[in-house]
Amino acid sequence: MRIGILGTGNVGKAVAAGAAAAGHEVVFGSRDPDSRKDLDHPVLTQQEAAAHGELVINALGSGASLDTLPGLAAQLDGKVLLDIAIDLTPAMDLIHLDVSLAEQLQTALPGTRVVKTFCTVDSAIMAHPLKTLDTPTTIFLSGEDAAAKTTVGSLLEDFGWAPEQQLDLGGIATARAQEHMALMFVAVAGAVGGHVFNFSLVTPRAA
Ligand SMILES: NC(=O)c1ccc[n+]([C@@H]2O[C@H](COP(=O)([O-])OP(=O)(O)OC[C@H]3O[C@@H](n4cnc5c(N)ncnc54)[C@H](OP(=O)(O)O)[C@@H]3O)[C@@H](O)[C@H]2O)c1
Repeated sequence: MRIGILGTGNVGKAVAAGAAAAGHEVVFGSRDPDSRKDLDHPVLTQQEAAAHGELVINALGSGASLDTLPGLAAQLDGKVLLDIAIDLTPAMDLIHLDVSLAEQLQTALPGTRVVKTFCTVDSAIMAHPLKTLDTPTTIFLSGEDAAAKTTVGSLLEDFGWAPEQQLDLGGIATARAQEHMALMFVAVAGAVGGHVFNFSLVTPRAA
């Protein structure tokens, strides 16, 4: 699959490596492609990368998504947007308390199918959950479009997230829960002194 990744930071590089290792054709989209010659995959403009991707990944820095993505509506039309971004203040407080970033993106991009995932784990885990963590853990998906979630679920499986580790929370409004987990993430990271951990859903033992 052709994948365009918007954002050339920690998350963009991590998912690019995972997607390329799984055989996908990856390009980055940058505000300044000429300044990112250090990357392992072609670096295009944001418009070009969004146009390239059959699936486009939002790995833009905090505060950049709502300024950037509506301007790419034409390139994103009809596509799946895998949204990882979280808008946080410099003090790591959540900016969108009532309506999540993902919901706002879905409203701004009605022709695009937004699927929120990966925002509950560190970039070191996203593309290598089984190499990084002791046991299988849980990753969440939120979005309105079942086929889009199937496409994203297949990419997650390529990265090592088995179907039974993927939890479809429901529509895009459930992205609020994923984004609010950033607060738990920051608190746990402070408590354990590191960012490389994840949570597992544990259900009752069968009677
Ligand atoms: N780091 C994690 O482990 C993690 C985990 C879960 C969720 N997230 C979320 O994922 C997103 C990306 O995180 P990251 O750690 O990869 O961030 P990062 O290292 O700061 O990279 C963000 C990238 O976004 C691009 N960008 C475009 N417009 C921007 C703007 N106005 N301001 C800032 N950056 C802009 C930049 O690439 P160009 O300069 O090339 O355009 C930049 O390299 C964030 O929303 C973050 O909250 C991060």
